Amino acid sequence: MILARKSQLHYYVDVPLYVKSDDGRYVMYKPGGKTLSDMRISEERLHVELYMKHEDKLKGLQEAQRGFNRQLQNNVKSGDPAQVKSTLISIVEETLMEPRSGSLEGVSETMDILISDYADESDVIKQLLFVSSTDYSTVIHSINVMAFALAFASHAHLSTAQTKVLGISALLHDVGKVKITPEILTAPRILNNEEFEEMKSHTLIGYQILRECRFSDKGICLAALEHHEKLDGTGYPNNKKNVSEIAKIIAVIDCYEALTNNDRPYRCAMIPIDTLNLLKDDVNKGKFDKDIFKKFAYSLVK
Ligand SMILES: [Fe+2]
Ligand SMILES: [Fe+2]
Repeated sequence: MILARKSQLHYYVDVPLYVKSDDGRYVMYKPGGKTLSDMRISEERLHVELYMKHEDKLKGLQEAQRGFNRQLQNNVKSGDPAQVKSTLISIVEETLMEPRSGSLEGVSETMDILISDYADESDVIKQLLFVSSTDYSTVIHSINVMAFALAFASHAHLSTAQTKVLGISALLHDVGKVKITPEILTAPRILNNEEFEEMKSHTLIGYQILRECRFSDKGICLAALEHHEKLDGTGYPNNKKNVSEIAKIIAVIDCYEALTNNDRPYRCAMIPIDTLNLLKDDVNKGKFDKDIFKKFAYSLVK
């Protein structure tokens, strides 16, 4: 038995929940086929710790993802960017707790909602970038990169299918960071060589995780592997010059997002115009794709 995550409890339908009795036995609390709200148990009334069978973990997460996605759809329809961002944070956080095949594919449905006509009409995705978040993390970074990527897709008139693949790639490009030592991820200083080598490995780890998933487009795995490559061969992990199209787009957006965010205490966030000038220098040095950079810059002002 494992402790069930409180944030997911109310979404479980087929997953039975148990409570631990004083003598250490597990007694059924909620049978499969019913939700806690079917049993009229509200979140406030739920003071006990509930458990689930270990083998139900993935099924539980999938039920929770469906529940969060329904909530996201309502948030998108009401056009409230703060609500959309908050639900998205829950989805990405919960999904990254179990980053493997069977759970990561859940973001495919999330992306369908984010690129739906409702989202288009309310312009809610663009507004996501103006909802500030106090605790910058891989989750927030990934959501921001995705929001920039969807704005880019709209500006570049990508097809719905291409937009979806780009959005998923953006959301999951740093999935490999779940395996990096947390102290390295949040180090309030410049990393030493050894630490930086570990940090670099998030590209390969992400690729390996995503390769096991049932995404139909291989560009999603390549974006995780290649988003730190530079077109002049000075990037990592493979000093590759010939980089996939999606990875080239994510590379530009990823750098822009990281530089404009206050993610590191040892340096200040840059303002957009300075960041664009810095990236333009890198374009001129042959590190980033010129056409992609231009389209991205225009997508910011549109
Ligand atoms: Fe990365
Ligand atoms: Fe990133």
